[in-house]
Amino acid sequence: MKYKIQPFIKWVGGKRQLLEDIKERMPSSFNSYFEPFVGGGALFLDLQNSITTISDYSKELIDAYITIRDFPFELMKELDNHEKEHAKSPSEYFYSIRELDRKDNWKDTSILSKTARFIYLNKACFNGMYRVNKKGYYNVPFGKKNIVSTYNEDNITSLSEYLKKGAVKILNCDFEETVANAKKGDFIFFDPPYDLINKDTFDSYTKDGFGVEGQKRLSEVAHELDIKGCYVMITNHNTPLINELYSDFNIDVVSVKRMINSDASKRNGIETIIYNYDLGDK
Ligand SMILES: C[S@@+](CC[C@H](N)C(=O)[O-])C[C@H]1O[C@@H](n2cnc3c(N)ncnc32)[C@H](O)[C@@H]1O
Repeated sequence: MKYKIQPFIKWVGGKRQLLEDIKERMPSSFNSYFEPFVGGGALFLDLQNSITTISDYSKELIDAYITIRDFPFELMKELDNHEKEHAKSPSEYFYSIRELDRKDNWKDTSILSKTARFIYLNKACFNGMYRVNKKGYYNVPFGKKNIVSTYNEDNITSLSEYLKKGAVKILNCDFEETVANAKKGDFIFFDPPYDLINKDTFDSYTKDGFGVEGQKRLSEVAHELDIKGCYVMITNHNTPLINELYSDFNIDVVSVKRMINSDASKRNGIETIIYNYDLGDK
């Protein structure tokens, strides 16, 4: 049975608009599914493969998946409270919640409350961005909405059931570790932070960034998986570096409308979908 589920969060680089282009290029069958840069998880939620491993470097994001799995009702209750308080004095409330991670007692806050804050801020902030400063403090400004809707009840309960019943392994680690046990016949979908087209492109999902070194390391890992006999797919910008790193794989160029950019003229992007297998036998 397939659940009707959508990403519960707006995440930079979300792949919802590329979903059909990606699905057309997937291998026709595979064993385990791995998504090491899961973010909002558009593809994994759409596929619902029977054996799946998801992971991301962002601890708050992975804690949110785990909280939805284990405490969906408690989480929705806390989110109701955020919505109610927000409606009373939107801007003040937003900034009072935003600054909680700067307080001494933040480390003692429960994962449940941290997740409720994380989801609330994602819905109430400017453009659904996630960004932290050098100290790791969340620093996106207020989105100027008087009323926020932080979740859809059916979506949270279905996602919780799917994560509980489906064989979904949830990790919080670097991509290289996530795929260390991938085997021949498994399918790995890599949706890493983008290679930068220009310096003002968004690249700070984590306080460490990813950079050219990250792109090179990912290419090495993808080639090791190729040698093992895994199916590998990578999405990225269509840049010289990406074309060079994957010159021996198939590279399809597709265009996509990007939602997260305050400047409308920068919302159109050219992306690549890269894969190491033949589509002829689909
Ligand atoms: C482009 S986003 C993924 C978007 C996602 N596929 C979606 O549909 O929403 C890239 C993700 O990589 C994560 N990330 C950055 N560096 C990482 C690393 N070294 N290992 C694992 N995840 C990393 C970021 O936290 C971010 O969630």
